[in-house]
Amino acid sequence: MIDEIAAISDDAPARIADATTLAELRAVEAELTGRKGSLTLLKRGLGALGADDRRAAGAALNAAIGTVEAAIAARRDALERADLADVVARERLDLGEVPTTPRRGTVHLVTQTWDRLVDVFVGMGFVVAEGPEVETDWYNFEALNIPSGHPARGMWDTFYVDLGEPETVLLRTHTSPVQIRVMTDQAPPIYAVMPGRVYRRDTADASHMPVFHQIEGLVVDRGISFADLAGTLEAFTSAYFGGSIHSRLRPSYFPFTEPSAEYDINCVFCEGTGCRTCQHTGWLELGGCGMVHPTVLRNVGLDPEEWSGFAFGFGLDRLALMRHGVDDIRELYTGDVRFLEQFPS
Ligand code: DAH
Repeated sequence: MIDEIAAISDDAPARIADATTLAELRAVEAELTGRKGSLTLLKRGLGALGADDRRAAGAALNAAIGTVEAAIAARRDALERADLADVVARERLDLGEVPTTPRRGTVHLVTQTWDRLVDVFVGMGFVVAEGPEVETDWYNFEALNIPSGHPARGMWDTFYVDLGEPETVLLRTHTSPVQIRVMTDQAPPIYAVMPGRVYRRDTADASHMPVFHQIEGLVVDRGISFADLAGTLEAFTSAYFGGSIHSRLRPSYFPFTEPSAEYDINCVFCEGTGCRTCQHTGWLELGGCGMVHPTVLRNVGLDPEEWSGFAFGFGLDRLALMRHGVDDIRELYTGDVRFLEQFPS
């Protein structure tokens, strides 16, 4: 028995070391210490020995089993570690390819347009002013010669703010109230442009959004005439759209200007031959303008006998669309990067 035990334990280490997978190791383990393993079977034979032999063989057998079990455990540990290393190697992610500098975005087309318009007007000697988006009735309507009940109020579908007396606080419907603020705050001569966000109760379609932008212009000085207005707008048109695009003024009506006009430019889509966008007129309407109404000047404490001026208000979003040949204002506000990234800043 002792010899048999010695024979088994002599070649056990080599057999254990030869197992190169956990499955192979499990097989070796079954052959040695499993239910029908060689050492287990020897154990069953102990009962047939005499007391002294049994004690000696039992001690040798227990020692052999202990050694074999320890060797198997060590081998299992090593194989499991190798397995894990294998998995890690296989599932390794190469993070070396991740770009270290994120892709650069672009400035939104509306912001680019805002900046460019301001640049053009600053180049012509104008300063920039801004006013609040939540306005009072006075600045948005009353001071602009649109008293309550005036039929022209229908030109602006207004969002009112639930604050104070009903219909006294509102989201400005145009940038014209900033004219009143500028004239109230500073004495003429005034040469100012006022870009900003405005709000109207309009349903979104290809040419309307309930939130959009305008750029307002205001000049107040001595001896300002309609010719100054026309000349300024023509200079602006070629500076912003390029020399091949010209402007024209068409008689119109606004309560805060007299006379009033619509400002049109040659259609940038068809270059004047007529298309769907210009409704076959060859012209695109970009905003209103006119000579500041004497009542408006009086409302801010200026003497219309001494001072005269002109004003204009253009749709900023519309200027952006026309300059880039885009025919739907909603494109500006869907936030689709495939659209926006066509206008790198
Ligand atoms: N505020 C007008 C609008 O939103 C546009 C406008 C017309 C502004 C004539 C002006 C102007 O300054 O003189 O429809």
